[in-house]
Amino acid sequence: MNKIVVLTGAGISQESGLDTFRDANGIWAKYNMEEVCTLEGFKKNPEKLHEFYNQLRSNLPKYLPNAAHIALAKLEQAVLKKEIEAELVLITQNIDDLHERAGSRFLYHMHGELYKIRCTTCDRRMEWHKSCFPYTSCPYCHAVTLRPDIVWFGEMPYYMQEIGRALSDCNLFVAIGTSGVVYPAAGFVNEVQGRAKTIELNLEHSMGTSNFDESWQGSATELVPEFVNYLLNAYQK
Ligand code: APR
Repeated sequence: MNKIVVLTGAGISQESGLDTFRDANGIWAKYNMEEVCTLEGFKKNPEKLHEFYNQLRSNLPKYLPNAAHIALAKLEQAVLKKEIEAELVLITQNIDDLHERAGSRFLYHMHGELYKIRCTTCDRRMEWHKSCFPYTSCPYCHAVTLRPDIVWFGEMPYYMQEIGRALSDCNLFVAIGTSGVVYPAAGFVNEVQGRAKTIELNLEHSMGTSNFDESWQGSATELVPEFVNYLLNAYQK
């Protein structure tokens, strides 16, 4: 069986209009990551941190899935309908919902989701589409301890067990639009080394390029549909 693991990063959503993190005009060129992406930043200035995520959340509907998200959803459909001899695990570091809006039904948001919020008192995670403020109370336990359900620097990403299982079992690992700087995702390519073919699809060389068997340079909307079509042919029943 062909067992594919796809890891996506901010680069896949760039052509939808979303900022990446580390490109010249990226989020970390405009915001201080200590302030908006750490627990310490949240404790120091919760207003500022909530405002950052409120803005990202309220802007999200303006952006539409692009051809790369759509191609991955098409790949999932081909797997689910058993049109190809393959299994697929999609992992994203992105907190946007563009994979879902493109039609992907099964994916792991390892860094959390903009449309979710977590209460640190009752530990419930809930769907959340409006703004959140330091005084907003939890609809379940009423404590005013809500935080964005985002994995900040120094915190453990979600679904690591499921991801570990998928990596230990895959024979094709594909990373799309990620700079290969942030661990543990940046280390996935090393975890599968020797067992799986590894391919990177990215606008430019990344920190991880030399770890991949193949590195394709180009934009996600060009490369991903082409790559998915290649897989659909190669894995045809
Ligand atoms: N097509 C393909 N790749 C692109 C495109 C594009 N249109 N535009 C940019 N890229 C590439 C960039 O060249 C870069 O290598 O996407 C990569 C984006 O890298 P980052 O901005 O570092 O994003 P990512 O790797 O997803 O960041 C990882 O860092 O700050 C944290 O939690 C945040 O999940 C994020 C994590």
